[in-house]
Amino acid sequence: MKVLVPTDGSEHSMKAVQRGLELAEKQEAQVTLMSVAYFGADYLDEMPPNIREKLEDEARAALKKAKALFDAKNLPVETVLMTGLVPANLIIQKAQDGKFDRIVIGSTGQNALEKIVMGSTAAKVVAHAPCEVTVVR
Ligand SMILES: Nc1ncnc2c1ncn2[C@@H]1O[C@H](COP(=O)(O)OP(=O)(O)O)[C@@H](O)[C@H]1O
Ligand SMILES: [Mg+2]
Repeated sequence: MKVLVPTDGSEHSMKAVQRGLELAEKQEAQVTLMSVAYFGADYLDEMPPNIREKLEDEARAALKKAKALFDAKNLPVETVLMTGLVPANLIIQKAQDGKFDRIVIGSTGQNALEKIVMGSTAAKVVAHAPCEVTVVR
């Protein structure tokens, strides 16, 4: 079973990472961690190079934090860093191209608000994923 776990480094996404870890341990799932350095559409062109780097560093840090959990248990894991405007689109595309069986995603992420049931990335992935989606809350 191929499992894609998108993470933005947030607490909720780390719950999804934990779930992915369980699947690797108990069902020998092949897990891929994915983080999208997200650039707001409005300022993509004018963005100073150092900001771009900073956003990519954040995505890299999210992957490092998640990968450490797998490393600690000697479980193999792949990591994918992407950059783009709409994280959900890249997640859906990756699930399709990589023929993933399941996506495990957090219900909310970095913009979490108590009253919001599901973040926009999670909602879009649930709506358009080419495979089964587990939303961890
Ligand atoms: N930039 C991103 N890269 C990878 N995964 C992401 C990204 N943003 C969100 N996710 C995934 O989607 C989940 C829900 O986040 P999201 O829908 O963006 O909620 P919010 O509106 O709170 O930011 C996160 O827990 C994470 O698993
Ligand atoms: Mg978000």
